[in-house]
Amino acid sequence: MSSSVSKAAAALSIARPERPAATIPVARTIRDVKPYQAVSSLEAIQSRPEQVPLKLDWNESTIPPSPKVLEAIHAFLQNAHHLNWYPVLNSTNLIEKLEKFHGVPGDCLLITNGSDDALDTICTTYLDPGDVVLVPSPTYTHFLVFAQTRGAEIVPIYGPDAFESDLEGLLDAVARHRPRLLYLVNPNNPTGVIYSPDEVATLLAACPETLVIVDEAYSEFAGGSCIGLLQTYPNLVITRTFSKAYGIAGLRIGYAMGTPAVIQDLRRVFNPKSVNVLAQIGAMAALDDQDYLNDYLREVREAKLLVADWFAARGLPCRITPANYFMVCFEQAPWVVKRLQEEGVYVRDRSGMNQLAGYVRFSVGTVEQTRDLLARIERALQS
Ligand SMILES: Cc1ncc(COP(=O)(O)O)c(C=O)c1O
Repeated sequence: MSSSVSKAAAALSIARPERPAATIPVARTIRDVKPYQAVSSLEAIQSRPEQVPLKLDWNESTIPPSPKVLEAIHAFLQNAHHLNWYPVLNSTNLIEKLEKFHGVPGDCLLITNGSDDALDTICTTYLDPGDVVLVPSPTYTHFLVFAQTRGAEIVPIYGPDAFESDLEGLLDAVARHRPRLLYLVNPNNPTGVIYSPDEVATLLAACPETLVIVDEAYSEFAGGSCIGLLQTYPNLVITRTFSKAYGIAGLRIGYAMGTPAVIQDLRRVFNPKSVNVLAQIGAMAALDDQDYLNDYLREVREAKLLVADWFAARGLPCRITPANYFMVCFEQAPWVVKRLQEEGVYVRDRSGMNQLAGYVRFSVGTVEQTRDLLARIERALQS
């Protein structure tokens, strides 16, 4: 580095205002937004290098991605020159693969930085301040932040039972509120509630002026998808991710699927160079290794059977979902979560959510990991 560059860098790194600058008010639409409460266990895990962690709090894959992902990234990095160039614009390389994989034309696909980015882009594109956004709840709460930052009015819809679907309730709510957006996580996080494509079609037909987002972050685990409805319903947009079943959450890549008109609208605001090159390469390689994916899905299915038997034998209420997580109701959820953490098990306390008193969410991994998990739960509960 030349001395002038290093001096500038040093000056930048030590520059601190002597007095706090006057506060610049944030945009009106942001004033009441509460940041998403992201609780990460990474620090706790890193502080205990002697313990094999079971990181089951964010529904990530519990195993590394396909070796082909690492091979593809290594091969790419052999030519370091590639890193000083921007990535393939609009990730057309991945779009080509997804076109074949889903049988969906390329102009129906937008590749994003994780599916969170797709959700955020949808909110930016379609919401005006004051628009109503209907959210079947309890559900994945990060979406609420995206809608709130556009100044939307969020209307949560609770059915009589958080663990049962309630199509009638949703139809009634769309008729009453005529929302601009409806956000349906399918299967739902954290309850596992799932609507069939026929049920989603009924919903889409009932509200042609509402854009219905179907978040399929966990659809690989559940099987089935609403992709087949895209040809019939122009008010449908589906989001998907490589963060869960494909095991590359750290690379941050996902996508949205909609009609060409919807995708064109999303492209008005989306930065075509924002998805990084390693994520593109990793996702293409992950998609190419369907055997690896299917082996993992099989492991998770088998592991869920073990879990169901184990909790049934102990009389603890356990809800196995079609996704890669299950929910257990404990009398003292926060205490259990703490005890589990001492055993190196990191889970998500959902007991503070409306209708979920006492419930803790556990991600499911392989059969071997699950045997280990059950042994650790046993120890935690005995103390
Ligand atoms: C329902 C749901 N949607 C979206 C996401 C975000 O996933 P991504 O990593 O693709 O941004 C998550 C992550 O937990 C999720 O549970």
